[in-house]
Amino acid sequence: MEHNLGLIGFPIKHSLSPWIHRQFLEKAKIKGTYSIFEINDKLLKNQIEMMKQNRFKGFNVTLPYKTKIIPYLDDLDHNARNIGAVNTVLNLDGRLIGYNTDGIGYLRSLQQYYPELVTDKQKNILLIGAGGAARGIYYALNQSGFNTIDIANRTIENANSIAELKTNDTVTNILTLNQAEDNLVHYDVIIQTTNVGMKSNQHDSPIKLKHVRESAIVSDIIYQPIWTSFLKNASLVGGRVHHGHTMLLNQAQYAFEIWFGQRPELGSMDIQLKLLLEG
Ligand code: ATR
Repeated sequence: MEHNLGLIGFPIKHSLSPWIHRQFLEKAKIKGTYSIFEINDKLLKNQIEMMKQNRFKGFNVTLPYKTKIIPYLDDLDHNARNIGAVNTVLNLDGRLIGYNTDGIGYLRSLQQYYPELVTDKQKNILLIGAGGAARGIYYALNQSGFNTIDIANRTIENANSIAELKTNDTVTNILTLNQAEDNLVHYDVIIQTTNVGMKSNQHDSPIKLKHVRESAIVSDIIYQPIWTSFLKNASLVGGRVHHGHTMLLNQAQYAFEIWFGQRPELGSMDIQLKLLLEG
């Protein structure tokens, strides 16, 4: 039996998900396909119907449909419900269940490179940005029990809205970007989640990294370019870096686990993906 999988979004022509999931299928010895459905808003409902009728095993959802898809689903897992966004759907005997693998995928990727974060939760973490990606990451970090997770953002009310996801005694302070810049020395882990530094504005950085503590872990979820200005500057002042493409692999791996109940080995996929992204 062949399992159909796919991705819904716009624009997604250059998505790396087919490359990742076809390798997972091969590794898991599962016969399947992973297709791209680049659709506009009006076609969303029909597209989901088509996937249901054709008994798709599951699919991924990306921008701009991570929240727009929710009314078409039969149920949400508790992470997706709390975060308010879906990036993975499982077709369970005709019932579509929405999940969000971004935050857990991010946390796994961070712990893969910095295993001390699996057990040591006495860390001061700074999250820069308060968009959709930051929401999932904050939720996963909070659930994992880190003691301080501060949020710095250009628009303070967006940061406040993320802090409302807190479910335990984690401490969360809200900062302006300037305050974050001046207080970087307090943080063990600094996570950049804004759009600033992507290929279109690759010489920019949301904050200066002058005050980063040597040996702090500095992470950027942008993966194009792999070496963002933010990470280059962090590295210059002695920070230990963590690259965005590893989140992409781990969130996909967790999606695959939801569909097939098994976790394919990532092996050297991070190196291959890095080479692919560097052209
Ligand atoms: P995503 O889903 O990828 O996280 P998003 O939801 O559009 O994207 O969020 C973008 C984030 O980048 C937000 O935190 C945004 O700040 P605001 O909440 O103030 O809008 C941040 N961002 C975008 N452009 C920025 C800029 N030029 N300077 C600082 N922050 C910026």
